[in-house]
Amino acid sequence: MEYILALDQGTTSSRALLLDRRGAIVSKAQRPVSILTPKPEWVEQNPEVLWRSQEEAARDALSRAGVKPRQIAAIGIANQRETFLLWDRRSLEPVGSALVWQDRRSTALCHRLREAGWEETIRQKTGLRLNPYFSGTKLLWLWESLPMLSSRLNRLCFGTVDSWLLAKLTGGEAHLTEESNASRTLFYDIYEHRWDQELLALFQTPLSLLPKVVSSAGLFGKGAGFWEGIPILAVLGDQQASLYGQLCWGRGGLKTTYGTGAFSLMNLGNRPPEAGEGLLISPGWSLGRQTDYVLEGSVFVAGAAFQWLVDGLRLASNIGQVEAMARQAPDSEGLVFVPALTGLGSPYWDPSAEGLLIGITRRTRPSQIAHAVFEGVAHQVCDVIEAMGRATGVPLHEMKVDGGAAQSDLLLQIQADLLGLPVARSGCHEATALGAGLLAGQEAGFFSSPEERSSFGQIDRIFSPLLDSRERLRKREEWKSAIDRARGWRR
Ligand code: G3P
Repeated sequence: MEYILALDQGTTSSRALLLDRRGAIVSKAQRPVSILTPKPEWVEQNPEVLWRSQEEAARDALSRAGVKPRQIAAIGIANQRETFLLWDRRSLEPVGSALVWQDRRSTALCHRLREAGWEETIRQKTGLRLNPYFSGTKLLWLWESLPMLSSRLNRLCFGTVDSWLLAKLTGGEAHLTEESNASRTLFYDIYEHRWDQELLALFQTPLSLLPKVVSSAGLFGKGAGFWEGIPILAVLGDQQASLYGQLCWGRGGLKTTYGTGAFSLMNLGNRPPEAGEGLLISPGWSLGRQTDYVLEGSVFVAGAAFQWLVDGLRLASNIGQVEAMARQAPDSEGLVFVPALTGLGSPYWDPSAEGLLIGITRRTRPSQIAHAVFEGVAHQVCDVIEAMGRATGVPLHEMKVDGGAAQSDLLLQIQADLLGLPVARSGCHEATALGAGLLAGQEAGFFSSPEERSSFGQIDRIFSPLLDSRERLRKREEWKSAIDRARGWRR
């Protein structure tokens, strides 16, 4: 058995990579996944589409390389986090849609729980915030909105996307998860390493519905059907998987993945840390009895801001054109854009903030608007990284980056300029799947020597800061006053 199959079930696509014994990518495939928005703040996905798209991508990756399932030594899974669903334990029929991390239907419910004084208990136990982003309040919304579900409780399973894929891959044998996913539900105690009874009571969720939490690497089960007998040996939430795939294994290792949103994670090692102002604490991975923690800043809109210029404003017909347009302006000429299109995540956690474009004059051209959007995305990441520096005191020398929007040289140069730090782009476009594949491969006994690991952690290009530091500080100050306005607009 010569290959590792790495799956990456994300918000906008399902991807699959086939890795050989040296960690080189032999083939890859992907399928888009659709998003449903039945109401303005609702974001859903069809669970069967998540599974089918993932399975098709995996089969496609195998057939492109002419590889048979029996040649696969192990499967590793990375997945979009916080998105969850319910399904029937026996038939594996999903109950309704998967509620996606971007869904904000529980904003009022979060407010209610905050008023009732739950924010601090939640932060202390889970490392998270009371925010619709995480699964818990939306699960409570389901129980409150669909009381008929309570008559089916003994037949239901709850799971994040990893658990759902595991159930489908193993023909219903496995109902499991691991800490990087469990920790994003709002009812997992990341320090006691267990589902928390008090929070389960708060979210009206019986323990019997939940998957068992196991180590991020180990035997999750064996495939059924087409995947008959293939061991599934690793599972990680996608942001943690790319941290692993970028080899940020030691304390202080830092990466940002620019996808729909931008997620910055810093490895804090295995000592349970204190949360920083506006940041999250989550397990990075738990291997055997040891858990490595991460400090996380979650920015909800990054690539989505460029997409908005294309689909919403129709300023260009694709993202490449947006970049070409932005390059026509040397900078934003005083224009500031705050991409709070779905509220603000870290470090502000303000679902009521709204997008803002300020500094418009008669000289303002589309190229400056496009440039301001690039700067706005980069400023948000600066806010997170600066908060991480304050929280940890860890001196930062460099930030590793990956993800679709990180393919833009302009974005990364602006990022390095505004951050005042070198930004190192991964040599692999698929750092997330690579992380899951690397962990599964290690568990299967692959990649034990440095030579075998040589495909991992390669850097494509380093962007050094070029902006004068006074100009950098001036832009950062301007940004901060724009943020205040974006947050105060409806007050
Ligand atoms: O927390 C949300 C994150 O896991 C989603 O990642 O890459 O699917 O947008 P992505």
